[in-house]
Amino acid sequence: MDLTGYVKVGDLGAVSQSQPLVLVHDGYRIAIYYDQNNYYAIEDICPHMGAFISNGYQEGNLVICPWHNWEFELSTGKCVKPVNDSFIKTFPLKRYDNSFWLPNKLSEENEGEFEDWV
Ligand code: FES
Repeated sequence: MDLTGYVKVGDLGAVSQSQPLVLVHDGYRIAIYYDQNNYYAIEDICPHMGAFISNGYQEGNLVICPWHNWEFELSTGKCVKPVNDSFIKTFPLKRYDNSFWLPNKLSEENEGEFEDWV
C-alpha cells in the first residue's frame, strides 16, 4: 500500500460500532466510524450549527447529530434527513498495520473537493 503523504493517526482497536475515534489532525476535528467492515473518517462538526457529531448516535451507515437530529451518511457525508444540500466533510482514510492513516495535509489533498460543501 502506498502511504506516501499519509500519516498514522490512530489504532483500529480504538473504534467499534458503538464508539468512534475522535482526533485532531491538520486543523480538523475528525471522527472515525466503523460500519460493516468499513471505516469512515468524517469531520466531527455538524454543518448545521456546529455540534460535535461524535456526541450523537450511529445507526449503521448513518450518524445522527445530537442537537437537531440531522442524519448524515457515513459513506458520502450527505445529509439525508432532513433532505438538503448539506454535507459533512469526508476524508480519504487508509488502513495499514492495524492503524489508520490520513493525508498529511488534508486541505491541500482535497483542494477543491469541498468547495460546494456547506
Ligand atoms: S447542529 Fe447538527 S443538526 Fe443542528
